[in-house]
Amino acid sequence: MKLTRLPLVLSAGLLMLMTFSCDSGKTVPDSAEARADNLLEQMTLDEKIGQMSQLDLGYFMDPEQLKQAVRDGRCGSLLNFLGTEQVNEIQRIALEESRLGIPLIIGRDVIHGYRTIFPIPLGMAASWNPEAVRQAFRISAIEASSDGIRWTFGPMIDITWDPRWGRIAEGCGEDPFLASTLATAMVTGIQGDSLNDPTSLAACAKHYVGYGFAEAGRDYNTTYIPEPLLRNVVLKPFLAAKEAGAQTFMSAFNDLNGIPTSGNQFTIKKILREEWGFDGFVVSDWASVTQMVNHGFAEDDKHAAAIAINAGVDMEMATTSYYDNIKTLLDKKKITMVQIDDAVRNILRVKFRLGLFDNPYVNPEARAKILDPSFLEHSRTVARQSAVLLKNENAALPLAAEKISSVAVIGPLADAPRDQLGTWCFDGRAENSVTPLKAIRDLLGDQRVNYVQALTYSRDRSKKDFAAAVVAARRSDAVLFFGGEEWILSGEARSRGEIGVPGAQTELLEALAATGKPIILVIMAGRPLAIGRELNLSDAVLYAWHGGTMAGPAIADLLFGKESPSGKLPVTFVKGAGQIPFYYYRKNTGRPASAQSFTPVDSISSVNPQISIGDKSFHLDYGFTPLFPFGFGLSYTTFGYSDIELSSQVMKMDGTLTVSARVTNTGKMDADEIVQFYVRDRVGSITRPIKELKGYNRLSIKKGETVEVKFTLRAADLAFFNGKETVTEPGRFDVWIGPSSEEGLHSDFILE
Ligand code: GLC
Repeated sequence: MKLTRLPLVLSAGLLMLMTFSCDSGKTVPDSAEARADNLLEQMTLDEKIGQMSQLDLGYFMDPEQLKQAVRDGRCGSLLNFLGTEQVNEIQRIALEESRLGIPLIIGRDVIHGYRTIFPIPLGMAASWNPEAVRQAFRISAIEASSDGIRWTFGPMIDITWDPRWGRIAEGCGEDPFLASTLATAMVTGIQGDSLNDPTSLAACAKHYVGYGFAEAGRDYNTTYIPEPLLRNVVLKPFLAAKEAGAQTFMSAFNDLNGIPTSGNQFTIKKILREEWGFDGFVVSDWASVTQMVNHGFAEDDKHAAAIAINAGVDMEMATTSYYDNIKTLLDKKKITMVQIDDAVRNILRVKFRLGLFDNPYVNPEARAKILDPSFLEHSRTVARQSAVLLKNENAALPLAAEKISSVAVIGPLADAPRDQLGTWCFDGRAENSVTPLKAIRDLLGDQRVNYVQALTYSRDRSKKDFAAAVVAARRSDAVLFFGGEEWILSGEARSRGEIGVPGAQTELLEALAATGKPIILVIMAGRPLAIGRELNLSDAVLYAWHGGTMAGPAIADLLFGKESPSGKLPVTFVKGAGQIPFYYYRKNTGRPASAQSFTPVDSISSVNPQISIGDKSFHLDYGFTPLFPFGFGLSYTTFGYSDIELSSQVMKMDGTLTVSARVTNTGKMDADEIVQFYVRDRVGSITRPIKELKGYNRLSIKKGETVEVKFTLRAADLAFFNGKETVTEPGRFDVWIGPSSEEGLHSDFILE
């Protein structure tokens, strides 16, 4: 039925009316659904193709070209286009000057904050605090939407085992359970309580799927992921994002087992659509459609467009193979009109759900919320909870501000306002950053802070200021060394073959350690660095990631004991790149190593008989343990674990099992403890991990207080894909409740 164009509100209302009149008596399953169908019937092929094309502002060097393209219905989405006035103008053109008045959906990478920047996602993951993370993403959405953005290309929920991969910074680490809980929190924060709230953004679960398994940690590299690993680990956070209502998914760059993920019918059509019932839309990554030519999977852009459309990629980001080729592909019957209509319907459905038809304009007053003090305070809270205390000897920390006469603040990241914002920070501004130097000066006063940058950036190899740094150290009671990586050394296309501390930072630390002063090392980085040498040179080490706008005050709060560090590692820290991949839920192998079996390289004599009897699974130099395990993190207090109890020694397939324990704050300071719950399936129809995280709880425990913690298991929590089917198999299971993946109270039960 053709509607003559009426003022949008009326036509939308009419669409609604039509819907009810057409389906009188039947409850419309989803007004967005019905409205999308109604609109689809009126669209020309050109308009449909336009909806499937997302264009970058850079594509239109001339604003008038952009406006005309929108008038013509040539693009349904823009990325990297923002600003209240600009967005309202371009939306007005879309709504009032195009034939059908279909609003644009405007997307941007708001990965860990918009103007108020939070720690990089890997840092936020170290907080193990989904509620705090949800609030961070809610704040990000409030700020971004005030500039006209209603779609973010996040959360990034790629599991990875490889700290060489620069994009480890953007994800939630190595564990599927932790990543799934955080994916849920992030999607919920981004999309808010109601999608059509003007501060809600459509989330985009990315990069679907397997991108983090790039061989050698080299970005964009090939990925081989057997289906059990894909389903038992890599897909888990994406399923969680879908269950949380993520409205869009982004197909990725990587070739997955020979099939590029932007042309992969198995992952998109079979798993995402058929198995999971996803009803949002799929956008490609930047040029990931046409890059299938480079992959050797498409002859040319036209072939690539056909592959992507046949796989179910609804919208093409940045390139124009859809716009250029869909008509030809239809004529040649390489794709069908049904596929085009399905893609456009998916896109329109999300636009209706977001309320873009009914409320397309940005309220200019909304910008007043940007950098709201409460937002900055939350960023400080999250940065505090994200920092991980890795070492604290000789009572180096916390420092007593009232007692200390002076501190030496040294290093390239003490006063690096842009670096502390981390990667994927389009709109955060260095001018808003509060650096550690500023925060410590505010706390102690300038007179008690002896600052020498010594290295101007993390890769700096100049030693010309080392002497001045040593003088400052000698004049001070303690050295606070701020080192790590500049922000540009992590993120997209920022993989490193070696993952040590760059530049001459270690040499500087050696010179400072030689003074005999207490050395407190604060690392700000976008990945787990191999910090064995630096660890040995320091009395205390605080891993603060790139902590965002308020990293400085957060770090000062921790160094001077306003709060105890409470973060726990969301990823294994290796001793060196040679240990990669190293993740806690590894398999036991047929020859598991132990302290008794390990032969350190230096213990081997220089003369040896030929021995062919193999030993155990370890490296002669690195051994078989990481530098720090997943889940590790110290506190200024101590916690005792006791009384692990099971509700039964036998769990029925259709039953549940509760495992409890007591946790006591045995130290002198109130603090949070992240209690972790792990399970091991001892024998399976495929080999099973030695441990899997199945629960965690961040508990605030006062000094001297004991709290009980409980975790409940259902059979479904023990299910796994064995290569043929998803099963829960009877047998003996181990359980642990403890402070990390390597320690805790143990018990076991039988599942039957
Ligand atoms: C990039 C990234 C993706 C991002 C997109 C738009 O290449 O892979 O994560 O959302 O382009 O900026």
